[in-house]
Order: sequence, then C-alpha cells, then structure tokens
Amino acid sequence: MDTSFMQEIKQVGQLTDADRQLLAEMKPALETHAAAVVEAFYAHLEKFEPLSKLLHAEPGRVEKLKGHLRQWLITLADGEYGESYFERRYRIGFRHVEVGLEPRYVIAAMMFCRATAASMIVEAAYANDPKKTERMVALNRIMDIDLNVMLQSYDDHRVQQFLNVTGFSKALFETLMAG
Ligand code: HEM
Repeated sequence: MDTSFMQEIKQVGQLTDADRQLLAEMKPALETHAAAVVEAFYAHLEKFEPLSKLLHAEPGRVEKLKGHLRQWLITLADGEYGESYFERRYRIGFRHVEVGLEPRYVIAAMMFCRATAASMIVEAAYANDPKKTERMVALNRIMDIDLNVMLQSYDDHRVQQFLNVTGFSKALFETLMAG
C-alpha cells in the first residue's frame, strides 16, 4: 500500500501522536472488554437476514469471525499504525469484497462498533479517567481510519473486477470517469 496514502489519511483524519499514545495505553482495556463487544456485534448482525445468511454460509464461520474481530479490536491499540497495519486493514476490506458483502453494511457495522466500544470499553474501563473524552475521540479516529482503508480496498478491487469482466484498460476507465 502506498505510504503517501497512509500518511495523508492519518493527517486528514487528525490522528495525533497524543492519540497514538492514548490508544497504545488502552490495549489492556481492549483485551479485557473485547469479548463483550464481539458478542454484541454478532448478536446484532444476526438480526438481519442477509447478514445472518452470510455468517452461516460455512460451518464454524461465526466462531472464526469472533476471533478475527477480537484481534481487530485489540490491534486498534497498535500505537504505530505503519505499513503492516494498513496492509492488514486493506486485506480485511478485500475479504469483504470477496464474500460479496455490500460496503454499506461495513459502514453500519463500524457505527455499531463505535457506539458499543464507547459504552463497553471506554465507559467500562475509564469512567473516572480525566482523559476519557480524549480516549473516545482517539478510538473514533482510528476506527474511521480503518473504515477509510477498508473502503479504499473496496473501491480498488471493485474497479479491478469491472476491468476483468469488461476487458477495459485502467487508463480507458479513468478517462471515462474523468469525462
Ligand atoms: C466494522 C466492521 C467489520 C470488521 C472490522 C470486520 C472484521 C473482519 C475481519 C478481521 C475478517 C477476517 C479477514 C481475513 O480473513 O483476512 C472478516 C471477515 C469476514 N467478515 Fe467481517 N468485519 C466487519 C463487518 C462485517 C459485516 C457487517 C459482516 C456481515 C455478515 C461481515 C462478515 C464477514 C465474513 C463473511 C468474513 C469472511 C469469513 C471467512 O473467511 O470465512 N463482516 N471480518
């Protein structure tokens, strides 16, 4: 993944050094409370038929996904947010393209994660912390950055799928879009 893309997203998304430090400090809280967020997340998705179908399309998928989501949550506290972090997020986006999940569901799911993490992680672990609001902001910023990278992955891979099907060159596609 292009390093200038990563830098730009962090700068425009205002992920500051103070945010990175706060997030890194929050790793133990994320580890402690991730399981509750994960349970709430899949219980919520289960309520929607197309999502429930996708979750159960393969035996054992939900259990596997619970592990993936837990890992994703904990690594929000990475603190460095370098190349490998972005590559992992880009690949997560691609996996959702592969399974045919419409991007609007990823956006809605991230909204759910933000709200749930606010109550189940920040409120639960930092109720009386003077930096509670800053922690919430930092968590929101990194989740928005993750969403941004996942959607960039959708965009790139869907354009590629279109080029594969039509046989158009990327240059022709870009000329058509510009027009
Ligand atoms: C905040 C939003 C979401 C996050 C952070 C997330 C996270 C992940 C991660 C980390 C993986 C593993 C990717 C890999 O194998 O490299 C994954 C795969 C997957 N996710 Fe999500 N996900 C989100 C939203 C959703 C939603 C809304 C659904 C709807 C059902 C969904 C269904 C799936 C499926 C079906 C897979 C593939 C599982 C497999 O390989 O068998 N995800 N997700």
